[in-house]
Amino acid sequence: MNPAHLALKKAPTMDNAPTLDTTEQASRKGEVLVSARGLEKSFYGRTILKHVDFEMKAGDITVIIGKSGSGKSTLLRAIAGLTDPDNGEISIGEKTVFADGARTKEWNTVKSDVGMVFQTYTLWPHMNVLENLILAPRKRLGMKAGEARDRAEAALEEVGMRHHILSRSTQLSGGERQRVAIARALMMKPKLLLCDEITSALDPPVAAEVLEVLRRLKEEDGIALALVTHDMAFASKAADRVVFFHEGEIAVNAAPAEAFDHCTNEELKRFVDAVRF
Ligand SMILES: Nc1ncnc2c1ncn2[C@@H]1O[C@H](COP(=O)(O)OP(=O)(O)OP(=O)(O)O)[C@@H](O)[C@H]1O
Ligand SMILES: [Mg+2]
Repeated sequence: MNPAHLALKKAPTMDNAPTLDTTEQASRKGEVLVSARGLEKSFYGRTILKHVDFEMKAGDITVIIGKSGSGKSTLLRAIAGLTDPDNGEISIGEKTVFADGARTKEWNTVKSDVGMVFQTYTLWPHMNVLENLILAPRKRLGMKAGEARDRAEAALEEVGMRHHILSRSTQLSGGERQRVAIARALMMKPKLLLCDEITSALDPPVAAEVLEVLRRLKEEDGIALALVTHDMAFASKAADRVVFFHEGEIAVNAAPAEAFDHCTNEELKRFVDAVRF
């Protein structure tokens, strides 16, 4: 996989706001950015992932649905390097990042390509938005203050939150906090973004705004998105793939029309009915 990332540029706007430039992004739509094969994971003797195969492609939104406890978060955490599977392989682009029960050396070279956003607000309450965004890049990457600030402005612009750069996270609404959390993940210029129920705590109209931000990221920046959500309207409108987890297995992996309108899987039908009503 080419190492090119989203690069910063000065946009020709009135206020000269920096934006994330997609021209240097190497990932082309359809390029396989994540490939997981035969993932298995047990906790205390209970099998949670049963030989799971999963792919994410540049410029695609993959919506992951399934009952509580079916293994959705475990899969995302395995891809993000937060949980190690017991067996199986994970590749990011062409690099094998997990094999033989352990992370490979290659993982360190691509882990900043992988961003993750969680359900609960994970911003530091005693810091303003800018400080929240630049903390990790400054500390972990030793990024210079000026570059970090430029990048923060660009990331906030992407999610429509630039005007809140100096606000304290405690002053923001739930939807605004989640948009800042997305911006924070964008600081590392990820090629893929894993979102675990990031709108579950939000009112439907606010959730729709946050999901719209994700759709723009996919369309304008070609980021590959995997999204665990119970929002079936979004899944059927915006997803390129729908993955239905049932008892640790991917029971359905299909385009939304096929998954929802021509569904032959009884478990999925039951799940969709239960979520809709
Ligand atoms: N670190 C852990 N230690 C022990 N058990 C775990 C751990 N992480 C997950 N589990 C168990 O694995 C199962 C699957 O969890 P997971 O979080 O992947 O489910 P999920 O599909 O995301 O569910 P939900 O919709 O409730 O978020 C659950 O029964 C959970 O209790
Ligand atoms: Mg979960």
